Amino acid sequence: MYQFNREDYDKRMEWYRQARFGMFIHWGLYAIPARGEWLRSTEQIPKEEYMKYFYEFDPRDYDPKKWARAAKNAGMKYVVLTAKHHDGFCLFDSQYTDFKSTNTRCGRDLVAEYVEAVRAEGLKVGLYFSLLDWYHEDYPHYADRNHPMRGNEAYSDENRDFNRYLDYMHNQVQEICTNYGKLDVLWFDFSYDDMRGEKWRATELINMVRSLQPTVIIDNRLEVSGEGFGSLAECAPTPYHGDFVSPEQIIPPKGLTDKEGKPLAWEACVTMNGNWGYHGTDRFFKPAPMLIKKLVECVSKGGNMLLNVGPDAYGNIPPQSMEILETIGKWMRYNHDSIYGCGACDLPKPDFGRITRNGNRYYFHMFENTIGPVPLIGLEKDKVKKIRALSTGYEIPVSTSWVHSDYPDIVFADLGPDPVLPDDIDYVLEVEMGE
Ligand code: GLC
Repeated sequence: MYQFNREDYDKRMEWYRQARFGMFIHWGLYAIPARGEWLRSTEQIPKEEYMKYFYEFDPRDYDPKKWARAAKNAGMKYVVLTAKHHDGFCLFDSQYTDFKSTNTRCGRDLVAEYVEAVRAEGLKVGLYFSLLDWYHEDYPHYADRNHPMRGNEAYSDENRDFNRYLDYMHNQVQEICTNYGKLDVLWFDFSYDDMRGEKWRATELINMVRSLQPTVIIDNRLEVSGEGFGSLAECAPTPYHGDFVSPEQIIPPKGLTDKEGKPLAWEACVTMNGNWGYHGTDRFFKPAPMLIKKLVECVSKGGNMLLNVGPDAYGNIPPQSMEILETIGKWMRYNHDSIYGCGACDLPKPDFGRITRNGNRYYFHMFENTIGPVPLIGLEKDKVKKIRALSTGYEIPVSTSWVHSDYPDIVFADLGPDPVLPDDIDYVLEVEMGE
């Protein structure tokens, strides 16, 4: 029987819990039609028709060093790239298929270049791998609710051998776990209906992965998807339990704990606009200040944020995304101590923002100004050792003003005469507490 080992688990999760912030990259043939990575399914495009993008694919600007640098400058600590998405196209040189980047005009193993570039920046390396495969003949077509050819009589599932597909899928996972050095994150996607757990031969798959990559951190989508928490949350871990929960396009309202109340590792994956893959007309980007606050929200609830970019057909991260990353980076440069290694704390969420905590340091994130001195509710007055403005390190005095004499138990910080906050996105006060 499978024995979950919490000590091993905590050890492999250590860097990930410190990191808090990563980059997701969705990239593939679908960058050319530029209507999102699901277009083959949403528009029910036959394989033959989709192949035109395969023949055209030639990302002349592909330079993963630029991607890695952008991630690093934004303060991200890890990167996860779609080695293969649902369309089945491989960005790596798989010996088990012809449907791969090395057979396109670009002729390169894009994953090999990516892992090298990301490592060179000192970032942790992640690969996303789709469990669904709309290219493989043995993956269910007609009866599968996601397949592009669903419900189409010409694509009956009669002679399809799902086990043959699983052999193929397992072989490819073996390739990515063997040929690209040490992987830090393996991001499987996703389970649905009866396609979950042992249907993927998940125990066998994970045993193989763990034998090749003993410390790789794996998401929970061999069991669930963006919906569902997985067996670790149930306190009944399967051999293929995920290491973290992967809420998608949502930040859990209260953070996440397992059935017994222990905090769970989780990572909210979030798009910058409304799409994962490059989209030609989706210009609904979330403003950088908002994303900074959302990162803080994740950390204040004990989670990570995996923020997505969708490079275009040439391999460039869209300029809007680059600008957002730069703004985030500027803030992170001065305020990262309130993110890395931080987590939730037991104080109530203040009206003006949020709190993150690293040991005896509490970070009060001010999204909004206050009228008068800033109430640091929940701190014991005689234990406050010092208060500093995180971005500059300058001393913030405890207020002695008469205006809060009605609230003798609350510590107030005195930000001085300027009613406007020095940082209009998030001004962080670092409070060090003594014993
Ligand atoms: C999904 C999607 C998808 C995206 C993703 C990211 O469930 O199918 O296209 O890659 O998860 O979380």
